[in-house]
Amino acid sequence: MSDTLAIETNELTKRYDGVTVVDNLNLKVKENEVFGLLGPNGAGKTTTILMMLGLTEPASGSVSVLGFNPTREPLKVKRQVGYLPERVGFYENLTARENLRFIADLNGISYPEANQRSEEVLEMVGLTSDEIMEKKGSNREIEKTVGKFSRGMKQRLGIAEVLIKRPKLVFFDEPTAGLDPKGINQLLDLIDGLPKMGTTVVLSSHQLYQVQRVCHNIGILAKGKMVIQGAIDKLGREALAGGRFHIEVETEKPGEELVKVLQGIKGVVNVEVRENVLAISTDADLRREVSKAIVQNNYPLIQMKVQEFSLDDIYMKYFREE
Ligand SMILES: Nc1ncnc2c1ncn2[C@@H]1O[C@H](COP(=O)(O)OP(=O)(O)O)[C@@H](O)[C@H]1O
Ligand SMILES: [Mg+2]
Repeated sequence: MSDTLAIETNELTKRYDGVTVVDNLNLKVKENEVFGLLGPNGAGKTTTILMMLGLTEPASGSVSVLGFNPTREPLKVKRQVGYLPERVGFYENLTARENLRFIADLNGISYPEANQRSEEVLEMVGLTSDEIMEKKGSNREIEKTVGKFSRGMKQRLGIAEVLIKRPKLVFFDEPTAGLDPKGINQLLDLIDGLPKMGTTVVLSSHQLYQVQRVCHNIGILAKGKMVIQGAIDKLGREALAGGRFHIEVETEKPGEELVKVLQGIKGVVNVEVRENVLAISTDADLRREVSKAIVQNNYPLIQMKVQEFSLDDIYMKYFREE
């Protein structure tokens, strides 16, 4: 990963029929990282990707992709960018190699070069002879048509078509949808290897758990808004409702002045009183400071619990099926 940005959006907004579906998005994707664009169905992931590709225009705000404005310079963006849409289409009566050569031709790649690159990308995505050939007659082998491919094979062929252009940046929109666990793992391993080859990846998914292992940074969208963004290893501990930590203290009849003292502790985000329980949100583990304040103010410390937010909690809050 480098510090150069592959994508930067500034207050990017999209409306359909007066309804805001992408809402003032500020998003940064670094060069040579896998960025997870996550969120439940309808959150605005596909719309965001389409704006980055210059395939739909923002209502307001801006987006820069590899230094270009995709609305004003769509060809400059398309030349260096690959896109795997949610539903990939192929010529089902053609073989994998024929489909690849067709895409190569559309991208102005010469025939010998296309042949060489086809073999290269088939190998990259793990579409081996075993999978793409079939027996005809006693011992003759021919290439299968894509119509006979499994969902996982089709998805890998889709990625091969994206990679044959040797793009600097790729968008994979829900690439794991409909795959079995083995297919998902093959696909994620493939994605995991792309940054090393100089390809930045934006991976959208409504299944945080499925894809998190390959993402360096993630952004979670809910109803068009970015609710959380950052490095995946740090986010596990980040805030949901103010603080990252919830400290619950049982005492006796906590009064205003105690609440004020607690609110004055550095790192305390919020204090709520529920009968004899103080619910304190903090951005660090402040058990020591909190207990000291309670005892010094002559309140009993009957019980104290601390809960740290994890990716589990983020999952529960934004991804749980209703
Ligand atoms: N072409 C369109 N016309 C009208 N509404 C749309 C269109 N595309 C998407 N939407 C709406 O925008 C919202 C975000 O959709 P989308 O970007 O597809 O979400 P996601 O990819 O996260 O599932 C949804 O409410 C969807 O119904
Ligand atoms: Mg979508």
